[in-house]
Formats: sequence, structure tokens, C-alpha cells
Amino acid sequence: MPPRNGSIDTSPLAVYPGSFDPVTNGHLDIIQRAARCFPRLLVAVVANPSKQPMFTLERRVELLREVCADMPNVEVDRFEGLLVEYVRRRQAQIIVKGLRIVSDFEHEFSMAVLNRKLRGGADTMFVPASIEYAYVSSSSVKEVFALGGDIADFVPPVVLRAMAALRAPAVTSPARRKEGDQS
Ligand code: PNS
Repeated sequence: MPPRNGSIDTSPLAVYPGSFDPVTNGHLDIIQRAARCFPRLLVAVVANPSKQPMFTLERRVELLREVCADMPNVEVDRFEGLLVEYVRRRQAQIIVKGLRIVSDFEHEFSMAVLNRKLRGGADTMFVPASIEYAYVSSSSVKEVFALGGDIADFVPPVVLRAMAALRAPAVTSPARRKEGDQS
């Protein structure tokens, strides 16, 4: 939400970090619900996810900006390095994490404790996934897509188009086709 008089906005800021490779309807659900709880929500895309990403950092940010365009109190940004350092730099108060299934909790709980230890005051709040998205993750979406399955219910339409565009075969000019190749 922009400040009314041009001054610095000091209303509480929450950070929702992730790889978002790609953003799914499950992420979007967490963003929409967190954006109703906090005056300002910063969706922060990590620059270097552990795995080789499907989309570049710029494209992941771009897709998120498109799907969040109708939420005026949501900003999309990128970060690298420690999350808690980014949270400090942005003067945020809260880290938001989505929880889908019980096994998420173990990992997320230890990250929350570690982040708090790394920087006292960096508290994490968990938002439980809506039941219809409890089984949706970026990695499962990519796997289903790679195997030719239908992911239309799991990602926003703009992401579906972006994924389809990645899969579209490169156009080869007729001159470069081998002689006798009838395909
Ligand atoms: O969507 P993801 O891949 O589950 O998100 C993981 C993310 C980005 C939240 C996590 O890897 C992270 O916080 N990375 C920044 C590096 C960091 O601060 N690591 C220490 C926390 S354990």
C-alpha cells in the first residue's frame, strides 16, 4: 500500500520467500491470504535455488508480478544470500511460509528456529495451504508437465503459457534440414 503523503511507509512488512520455479496456484493462495493479514507483503524470489531452475530469476519475478498485479499491497522482489539479511535490509518484521503437509513442518520449523537464531527478531508465521492445493508443489508441477500431464488446475494461466513456450520446438529453417529429409 503506498504511503498517503509520500513519506516512508512504516506499516508492518512481511516477507514470503521462495524459489517460485514456477509460481503455482498454491503459492498464489498463500500470497492472497497473507496479503489480507499484513498491510504489506513482499514476495521475495531467491536468486540461486539449489536446483537448476526451469525459469531464470528475471522470468520468475516477471511471472509473479503478473499474477500479483491485482494486489496493491504486494511487492515482488529478488534476493540472494541469507534470507535474514534481506529481511533486515528491507526492515521487514515477519517471514511468511506456507505449510502443505505435515512433513513440510519439520523442515520449516527448523528453518524458522535457525533464522531466529541467526537474527533475533526474525519471526516466522505459517499459513496452512488450502486443502485443494495441499498436494501442489513447483517440483510436482514440473514433473507432471515434463511427462505430458495436464497442469492447468495447478498453475495460473500465464505460467501455463510460459511453460508451454519453453517446450515449443525451435523452428528450423528449411535450408538447414538435411537433404532428403521429408519431415
Ligand atoms: O521455494 P523454496 O525453494 O522452498 O524456498 C526456500 C527458501 C528460498 C525460502 C530458502 O532456501 C532460503 O531461505 N534461502 C535463502 C538462504 C538462507 O537464508 N538459508 C538459511 C535458511 S535455512
